[in-house]
Amino acid sequence: MPSLFDPFSLKDITLRNRIVASPMCQYSAQDGIANEWHRAHLAGLARGGTGLVVIEATGVSPEGRITPGCLGLWNDGQAQALAPIVAEMHKAGAASGIQIGHAGRKASANLPWEGDDHIPAGDARGWETIAPSAVAQGGGLGKVPRAMGLADIERVRNDFVSAAERARDLGVQWLKLHFAHGYLAQSFLSPHANKRDDAYGGSFENRSRFLVETLAAVRKVWPENRPLSARLGVLEYDGRDEETLSEAIALVKRFKAEGLDFIDVSVGFSTNEAKIPWGPAFLAPVAERVRRETGLPASTSWYISEPGQADALVREGKVDLVTLGRPLLADPHWPYAAAKALGVENPAWTTLPAPYAHWLSRYRAA
Ligand SMILES: Cc1cc2nc3c(=O)[nH]c(=O)nc-3n(C[C@H](O)[C@H](O)[C@H](O)COP(=O)(O)O)c2cc1C
Repeated sequence: MPSLFDPFSLKDITLRNRIVASPMCQYSAQDGIANEWHRAHLAGLARGGTGLVVIEATGVSPEGRITPGCLGLWNDGQAQALAPIVAEMHKAGAASGIQIGHAGRKASANLPWEGDDHIPAGDARGWETIAPSAVAQGGGLGKVPRAMGLADIERVRNDFVSAAERARDLGVQWLKLHFAHGYLAQSFLSPHANKRDDAYGGSFENRSRFLVETLAAVRKVWPENRPLSARLGVLEYDGRDEETLSEAIALVKRFKAEGLDFIDVSVGFSTNEAKIPWGPAFLAPVAERVRRETGLPASTSWYISEPGQADALVREGKVDLVTLGRPLLADPHWPYAAAKALGVENPAWTTLPAPYAHWLSRYRAA
């Protein structure tokens, strides 16, 4: 079995190791345009030695952003701002990925550190939200969305396609569809959010339709030789766990038939009543089952922070890649620390660029 520091190849892309920087919103953009903050953040993660850096949830349309500070990819100016950042990630030896998504009923939110809730009605910074049904997420996200008509569904699907085309043209190597975390796609799948009685609601087949159609449309424009992945919340922890997980596995098999190359296993977050069993690598056994039953390479995240634990997940075949979030915010050079802890040969040169690696290998810094 491979280890954390073995390369991973999928389609024409080879990652130098199995460590992925999970997409993490920075809430630092204006008009969806990446700036110096994003450059420093993303280049830093690439220089830290990760195999793949996935750019944060990027709105496929203005109303698809989570907050006014989120990135977007609905116009050429946004693509032009990302292009040099992607090039810098490649220069640092990491593969580049981007997550494209639509926030649905969780959109039009304040920045997390200004109140993790909806922008109040009447505030000009906010916008109308859309979702499968006129049902609010609840809690601080109490704004009732407008139920999407068929024309909205078609438009958002086309927005996903346009964003994928822009990502393709600016040289991004790995595309991740945001089908998780209670945002628009996940809320089509979830009976907590989807109360429709047309072809997009009700039965599992109907609740899956928006996701399957969007994926199929994106696959047509996303190059065959670059990986297409999706992040899906496969469990809601709402007491219907086996049913939800079985449905999710059936859906991932359907995705595979439509051309999905990789699945990132996450949580649904469609109901605030969920009882999530937070704990170290708690989703790993779930990811292992999804991987085994679908035959797709897989990853997961959530509370994976110890090098030995990350390495074991790969060696035991539970996941192909580990996807880290907060550990990389705490230490963008986590891969170097992990390589040292795991006894990898030449840990500094294996993970860091020459201006760092030379000194660390020579003087054996603490
Ligand atoms: C600041 C921050 C922003 C995040 N933004 C996103 C995002 O854009 N897309 C996404 O799928 N998950 C997002 N997440 C979730 C992370 O990708 C990751 O799955 C989560 O933090 C759990 O991994 P960890 O325990 O290693 O942090 C975010 C998490 C953090 C901490």
